[in-house]
Amino acid sequence: MGELDGKVAFISGAARGQGRSHAVTLARAGARIIGFDLCAQIDTVPFDMATPDDLALTKKLVAETGSEMVAVEADVRDQAAVDSALAEGIEAFDRVDIVLGNAGIINNYVKTWQIEDDDFRNVIDVNVIGVWHTIKAAVPRMIEQGKGGAIVLTGSTGSVSGISNLAPYVASKHAVVGIMRTLAKELGRYKIRVNVVMPGNCNTPMFDNEGIHRLYVPDAENFSMETFLQRASTMSLMRNPYVEPEDISNAILWLVSPAGHLVTGVTLPVDGGTATP
Ligand SMILES: NC(=O)c1ccc[n+]([C@@H]2O[C@H](COP(=O)([O-])OP(=O)(O)OC[C@H]3O[C@@H](n4cnc5c(N)ncnc54)[C@H](O)[C@@H]3O)[C@@H](O)[C@H]2O)c1
Repeated sequence: MGELDGKVAFISGAARGQGRSHAVTLARAGARIIGFDLCAQIDTVPFDMATPDDLALTKKLVAETGSEMVAVEADVRDQAAVDSALAEGIEAFDRVDIVLGNAGIINNYVKTWQIEDDDFRNVIDVNVIGVWHTIKAAVPRMIEQGKGGAIVLTGSTGSVSGISNLAPYVASKHAVVGIMRTLAKELGRYKIRVNVVMPGNCNTPMFDNEGIHRLYVPDAENFSMETFLQRASTMSLMRNPYVEPEDISNAILWLVSPAGHLVTGVTLPVDGGTATP
């Protein structure tokens, strides 16, 4: 018996990285998964985004746990597409109990006064409006079911502090906390809990890419992975250069499981101490 037996989780950005890890972790705990992802490039994003093959692999990995996944290509910026992804999942599984607003992008690594208009807008569209779309699709159904539920939005160290060269991203991740705090107040009476998890640097393509390497080691001639990881590790109290996607998934599993039944309205850092004020 798993702690999420009978539950259904709706996950944005499920093709790879943390979203894939969340899908597999929750599936292992007994949940069935409705996962969607853009599976295409957004032209302002400074690294390669996920592909349809990535999403297919997530579905396969979920199946290997003994659970099932409805996997849909959909853009979180498009409410109709998100609604339709959820509808496809509900057609198969007949309910939704858990929502993970995980899909996210990052801006080009330049100073605040140098960011292009469309770069800023794309980050807000995906990381803020997209999170709202995901919530908006699922919450009416969760209220109607009358069985409570759990929502976890993915923030960042940038939810609680500034990070040079990442103004749109930091603005978006602060906004996610505002949405969470408001929603937690609105949904408490329905026994639907809402929280934010704040990963530190996480070992996915959003962190392990050339642009981020250059931020930590600007002098290209001196670049080595060792120098990069050593410098990244100075951000955390525990001197870990990054966390693994599974570290975030395990925190989410606790937040959405019966063990977290009275936890709502919190911002939970999982970062080795990076976000410590
Ligand atoms: N990697 C890090 O260092 C780090 C740290 C803190 C927070 N985060 C956050 O964690 C979350 C997951 O990121 P990740 O680290 O797994 O990176 P990732 O790039 O591997 O995964 C992000 C996923 O979101 C999907 N996505 C992006 N735009 C989308 C859209 N418009 N519609 C649907 N799907 C879309 C991507 O295709 C990708 O599969 C993001 O919200 C990110 O901001 C990441």
